[in-house]
Amino acid sequence: MRKAMTILALLFVAGLGSARAQNDCIDCHRLKTPGIVSDWELSKHSKSGVTCNVCHGTGHNGLQDIDKVRIPTPAVCGECHAQQVAQFTKGKHADAWASSNAMPTAHFQPMALMSGMKGCNGCHKIGLKTEADIKQLKAEGQGYGLASCDACHTRHAFSKKEAQQPQACQTCHTGSDHPQWEMYSGSKHGVRALLRQNGTLHESIAGPTCQDCHMSKGNHEVRTAWGFFGVRLPMPEDAQWAADRTTILQALGVLDPDAQPTERMEVVSEVNIMRMTNDAWQIERDKMSRACAKCHSSKFADGELAKGDDMIRESDHVMANAILEVASLYKDGLIPRPGNYRYPFPDLLTFHNAPTAIETRLYKMFFKHRMRTFMGTFHMNPDYALWNGWSEMVEDYTAIKSMAEEYRLRAKK
Ligand code: HEC
Ligand code: HEC
Ligand code: HEC
Ligand code: HEC
Ligand code: HEC
Ligand code: HEC
Ligand code: HEC
Ligand code: HEC
Repeated sequence: MRKAMTILALLFVAGLGSARAQNDCIDCHRLKTPGIVSDWELSKHSKSGVTCNVCHGTGHNGLQDIDKVRIPTPAVCGECHAQQVAQFTKGKHADAWASSNAMPTAHFQPMALMSGMKGCNGCHKIGLKTEADIKQLKAEGQGYGLASCDACHTRHAFSKKEAQQPQACQTCHTGSDHPQWEMYSGSKHGVRALLRQNGTLHESIAGPTCQDCHMSKGNHEVRTAWGFFGVRLPMPEDAQWAADRTTILQALGVLDPDAQPTERMEVVSEVNIMRMTNDAWQIERDKMSRACAKCHSSKFADGELAKGDDMIRESDHVMANAILEVASLYKDGLIPRPGNYRYPFPDLLTFHNAPTAIETRLYKMFFKHRMRTFMGTFHMNPDYALWNGWSEMVEDYTAIKSMAEEYRLRAKK
């Protein structure tokens, strides 16, 4: 009731005060952009009097003032949906804009893929932007993509039902380094949910969606225990694993040769790339375990989750060996270490812009094949865990060893 009153009050301030503007917007836009108006008419917003001007303001109300329109940010949605905005802001999606733009590789991308929001920022636009980001977007690009909240319930239908489908995540959680859609839709979990969706199976048959596991109870604060990179602190007790993870963190540039944190570690912790404490990790693991326990015994589920952890450990060992192989070529002067690399390690965050074939192979081994190994294990997809993941990593390592050997032979001649 109180919420309804607040909304009414807001509507009065933003909308009813200019009833003419409301009708003007809709009448003119029914001709100019009919698809937008008909989607809006299907939305709950149209039924609740949330008209165009509530989100877009009244600065523009005709052909002469289009540049005065307001492009809404999540703060605008937050005037009525404070809870979702607060949850979203604490979660990992909120960091997406900062994290892609913090990558060294961001500087090598064509502008259309950053400020034009096609490549990296076609997906990472889900993140929150600062005032400075918005200014830059307007200066370099067209200045759209500020909303974040239209990523899963798209404009202008803003449908909860759409956001609850696994396809709502598909556009971004796909492809080379995070094929969650492919892994999930091919797993028994996904197959069940999709057969339910197309009406083959009973509408209430158990088959988890992405949201059941990652947005349980509609919580907009998404985050996982291991995260994208599959690294965390503190170091594990297992001495071999600790050594391997140290090597990987050195190749990510967050630990220096003496295993001390670098400046990049600050950036990494600012955008929450890894869980920095046992507690932070355990909170997420417990949440996940509870989500599984709706359909499985806890014993079954926790055992399955532990297999994902095991595959990270196994992958880290092969990965660390491959990194050390490339590092030894720098050390022996067989390939030049790029001037912008501060430490005697390959820099995995240079992505595909690494200078030689052996270094790009190493990047691929980390970002594509190591990811697929553990992500495939966690998402119950045997084909991704083995053939697209582990098997490829083993091949990468063989190839990297052979390439390194060739450099050494050539140097002897
Ligand atoms: C007399 C016609 C007319 C009226 C009235 C009108 N608009 Fe527009 N609006 C336009 C046209 C034309 C464009 C530009 C469309 C294009 O680029 O193809 C536009 C563009 C927009 C855009 C997109 C701006 C952008 O940068 O892409 C928004 C949002 C918008 N209008 C909202 C509103 C709202 C809200 C109102 C009422 C307060 C309103 N319009 C009233 C004609 C109108
Ligand atoms: C002026 C208040 C107001 C603003 C601003 C607003 N909404 Fe809403 N929104 C509502 C109301 C009212 C409902 C309907 C609630 C209901 O019927 O349960 C609603 C419903 C929704 C729903 C659920 C739809 C469904 O299918 O159940 C979504 C999703 C949503 N809004 C997203 C957004 C987003 C995203 C923004 C910002 C771009 C936004 N809203 C801005 C008032 C607002
Ligand atoms: C518009 C693109 C986009 C959509 C749609 C999207 N995501 Fe994401 N998601 C991202 C990006 C980008 C990140 C990485 C955030 C960062 O860079 O910090 C991410 C991160 C995540 C994470 C955190 C992983 C970690 O590091 O712990 C989870 C979980 C997640 N998304 C689940 C979902 C689910 C579930 C859906 C659908 C309901 C969804 N996402 C829809 C782009 C998207
Ligand atoms: C197809 C959509 C898409 C594109 C294109 C894309 N990303 Fe991402 N990115 C994501 C998603 C989704 C995640 C989260 C994946 C996960 O947690 O498994 C992510 C994660 C990341 C992360 C890790 C963030 C974290 O905190 O864990 C960084 C950094 C990143 N991307 C940078 C980039 C850069 C730089 C580019 C362009 C060279 C790029 N991404 C292109 C969707 C995309
Ligand atoms: C609940 C808030 C909300 C309401 C109500 C709303 N819009 Fe939007 N609109 C958005 C968001 C969010 C975007 C995307 C902004 C961005 O680029 O991040 C947008 C973008 C637009 C655009 C430019 C992008 C495009 O796809 O062309 C136009 C035009 C537009 N809206 C017109 C309208 C009209 C006309 C109405 C009324 C029928 C309306 N909007 C009602 C939230 C809203
Ligand atoms: C990663 C996908 C995703 C993003 C991004 C997202 N939502 Fe949602 N939203 C969902 C899902 C899934 C639901 C349905 C939750 C449920 O089942 O109760 C939902 C539901 C809602 C509802 C309806 C709540 C209800 O119980 O009726 C509102 C309002 C809403 N979201 C607002 C927002 C706002 C505001 C933002 C931006 C801060 C946002 N959402 C961003 C996925 C998303
Ligand atoms: C049955 C539950 C379940 C379903 C369904 C599910 N996930 Fe996951 N997801 C997990 C688990 C478990 C992890 C690993 C958590 C950890 O780090 O301990 C995970 C991890 C992730 C991550 C972090 C990187 C990774 O892959 O390890 C992202 C992003 C993600 N899932 C997105 C999605 C998306 C998008 C979908 C739907 C296409 C989806 N998930 C479906 C359980 C699920
Ligand atoms: C909404 C219900 C639901 C949730 C939540 C769920 N599962 Fe499942 N899971 C199923 C169903 C149904 C199957 C298919 C059983 C079969 O193949 O006979 C399945 C199959 C599996 C399988 C394949 C092995 C087998 O028994 O055939 C594994 C492993 C698994 N789930 C682990 C998990 C884990 C781990 C989680 C949490 C991250 C989880 N599940 C969450 C319903 C669920």
